[in-house]
Amino acid sequence: MTQPAAPTLKVLVFAASMRAESLNRKLAGLAAASARAAGATVDLASMRDFDVPSYDGDVETRDGIPAGAQELRRRLLDNDAFIIAAPEYNASMPGMLKNLIDWTSRFRPQPFDGRHALLVSASPSMAGGNRGLWSLRVPLEHLGARVYPDMFSLAMAHKAFADERIADAALQARFEKTVQAFLSLAEAAKHYPCIKRAWVEFLGEIPGTPADRVDPIPGTA
Ligand SMILES: Cc1cc2nc3c(=O)[nH]c(=O)nc-3n(C[C@H](O)[C@H](O)[C@H](O)COP(=O)(O)O)c2cc1C
Repeated sequence: MTQPAAPTLKVLVFAASMRAESLNRKLAGLAAASARAAGATVDLASMRDFDVPSYDGDVETRDGIPAGAQELRRRLLDNDAFIIAAPEYNASMPGMLKNLIDWTSRFRPQPFDGRHALLVSASPSMAGGNRGLWSLRVPLEHLGARVYPDMFSLAMAHKAFADERIADAALQARFEKTVQAFLSLAEAAKHYPCIKRAWVEFLGEIPGTPADRVDPIPGTA
């Protein structure tokens, strides 16, 4: 198998927190730096770029999908992969992140499908917000994102950063290695794609069923 001459990957990185002093924004910054060091082109976004109102089907019918979700769709399609640094709220993902995913899932074709994702978190707690990432996997995998099996959760994050790095050298090295390994897989998949399947919410559904939540299969009516 020939290797691509140089990494060609474009990766979207953002933190799912609005706070100026967000720990997850710091971790997103480190993920961006690690991705650049690995040769990727980084699109570092802010959650404010993707600001949306609470999902309301009547608003969708009347006004369409809001600008913040249009922006996330545009940037998902413009990049090969994405990294989310997500806080844990009450043992789950932040509601605003789920709300953004819900709005963005309304586009057809559905823009998460086939995109590679790495999930990381930072929290003052001992578990580093890892439970929130498990909840985040569910809608992303449901939507066809290829969510990387390894996740990185930085415990006691309020004390963990120093000089734009994770102070503990072993943890910093593990973080960089995780980002690099994720990018290697996404790079390989970009050049050696497996068979592209249309996104279908339930694969057991009879093909051709005029269901709302099914992307049309190319070449079929
Ligand atoms: C509503 C709310 C719920 C929270 N629930 C949890 C939790 O379940 N587990 C946890 O580790 N931290 C929890 N935290 C603390 C956050 O991890 C902490 O505020 C973190 O700094 C938020 O991420 P940020 O710094 O990127 O904004 C919660 C914070 C808020 C505001």
